[in-house]
Amino acid sequence: MGTRSLLIVGVFVCLFALSSCRELNVKVKNRHIQQHQLASYNHTLARILVQYASAVYLSDLTELFTWTCSRCGGLTEGFEIIELIVDVQHCLQAFVGVAADLNAIVIAFRGTQETSIQNWVEDLYWKQLDTDYPGVDDAKVHHGFYSAYHNTSLRPGILNAVQEAKELYGDINIMVTGHSMGGAMAAFCGLGLHLNLGEQNVQVLTFGQPRIGNAAFASFYSQVVPNTIRVTNGHDVVPHLPPYYYYFPQKTYHHFPREVWLYNIGFGSLIYTVEKVCDDSGEDPTCSRSVKGNSISDHLTYYGVQMGCDASSGCKIVMDTLVAGYGKTTKKGNLILSRDPSTSILKLKTDRSSSS
Ligand SMILES: *[C@@H]1O[C@H](CO)[C@@H](O)[C@H](O)[C@H]1NC(C)=O
Ligand SMILES: *[C@@H]1O[C@H](CO)[C@@H](O)[C@H](O)[C@H]1NC(C)=O
Repeated sequence: MGTRSLLIVGVFVCLFALSSCRELNVKVKNRHIQQHQLASYNHTLARILVQYASAVYLSDLTELFTWTCSRCGGLTEGFEIIELIVDVQHCLQAFVGVAADLNAIVIAFRGTQETSIQNWVEDLYWKQLDTDYPGVDDAKVHHGFYSAYHNTSLRPGILNAVQEAKELYGDINIMVTGHSMGGAMAAFCGLGLHLNLGEQNVQVLTFGQPRIGNAAFASFYSQVVPNTIRVTNGHDVVPHLPPYYYYFPQKTYHHFPREVWLYNIGFGSLIYTVEKVCDDSGEDPTCSRSVKGNSISDHLTYYGVQMGCDASSGCKIVMDTLVAGYGKTTKKGNLILSRDPSTSILKLKTDRSSSS
């Protein structure tokens, strides 16, 4: 190819880039006009929900079900699980319960249990937008994340538990959380609760969540679940994936709003964490996108709370027989522990301590 044709190609690329940027700006402006109020960031709530997103990683089902695990105290004390779902087939885990102090149903999703988070992250670089989000023009999503929620035992288990909780507690809020891939599932869950159950008071708060769909999906998402906060930490690599291609805004993955970016600034020996509330585009260039996503350790700690599994636990299950009585195993080998929310779990707790 001669210099001349290269130049022409170059000019076309520029024109394309410029025009598509303009288009996106228009879109973003329209979104401003819409009456939907995006969430405001609540630091206290984020610090509480991060503990749920951390606890759901643990593999001792007895301790989780009775809410006595090592990550189950602190700001989440008094939480009552209604259902604990373990999709053994796909190595997924989630729980639904009621937090009286928040006056809310809390739903938490575990992130990936892969032994090598490095491999999981590398795979994410190449993920295509390969599934149409049903019912929304041009909206495309990541098939793996989409089906982890929509095509496993998680979704029916969660919907069932939410309905049970609402029968008992009435119209209380629903807060959905998760870290990493768990954040991706939390987003699909929040959207689904709104679209399928007509839930209005759904709030989604995720930590270190990857991108899950394109701009059309992000725009739809933020209209349906405006009350969403996506917390990112420092140089955490995962929110940078799958990549965002600035020059192809219609073709690329695109985050939904609203990001809150945590980063440290130091004055000598003083280190201070800034919590930057980002703009409502989903891809604020002055937030996590202003730095390189090159840290896995930033991915594994949020608000000083350890995320991910504690040991190299993989997808193992630990459970004692007392709690097993609350479980049922499905045909495919998946496990659902559930209890009638109107009975107290306290009895089980005493049984346990007296039997051990
Ligand atoms: C933030 O969340 C906490 C915990 O749910 C709540 O008590 C507090 O009122 C909230 N603050 C605001 C300003 O909404
Ligand atoms: C759902 O999962 C089943 C088996 O796990 C698979 O055969 C099917 O193609 C999946 N459907 C979608 C839409 O991913």
